[in-house]
Amino acid sequence: MSFPRLDLVAIPGSLRTGSLNRALARALDELCPDDTAVEVIDLHGVPLYNGDLDTDQDRPAPVQALKDRIREADGVILVTPEYNHGVPGVLKNALDWVSRPSYRSPMAHKPCGLMGAAPGGSGTMRAQQHLKVILLGMAAQVFPHPGVAVSRARDKIREGRLEDEGTREFVASYLAELASWVRRVRPD
Ligand code: FNR
Repeated sequence: MSFPRLDLVAIPGSLRTGSLNRALARALDELCPDDTAVEVIDLHGVPLYNGDLDTDQDRPAPVQALKDRIREADGVILVTPEYNHGVPGVLKNALDWVSRPSYRSPMAHKPCGLMGAAPGGSGTMRAQQHLKVILLGMAAQVFPHPGVAVSRARDKIREGRLEDEGTREFVASYLAELASWVRRVRPD
């Protein structure tokens, strides 16, 4: 039996040109199942949250585009760096914009997968735990999985490409499980 193509978006929480997390996000479309696509969304144009501008008339265009793209996607993969044991402000800020209006936002009930990459040994696990709490606050659905934590990432990601074969295989198996879960739980 064939299913319609699954449309996922990946959001790296770093603006850095050489970001390990953007490189990880870019590998996802290659590694996902054939009936799934993963588009990477950059947060460069998203300004700091300002409630005065969070109206249908005044919302900044990059924010509206982000909200629209998340609403139409079947699921979201958040690819988070770890800053001071938590989620970087860049990603938290974007999530604050897309979490309104509360419980009716594009994030409400949206299936979400989590992953991250860091040069150190913990591979963003603390940031991913923090992210789960934030996602609960906006009533997103979090994929019940230990997650993908790419530790010692500078040895595995070189010149913007995820090269480590073991990590590629693990990410591919994660994406297959994530895709099958999204098909089961996504809102119609
Ligand atoms: C870091 N880094 C970091 N790493 C980590 O494993 N745990 C941490 O708590 C922190 N804290 C932290 C704070 C700040 C302000 C910076 C700038 C960095 C290092 C971080 O993992 C590293 O810079 C990554 O390369 C960031 O991700 P991108 O930009 O490569 O995607």
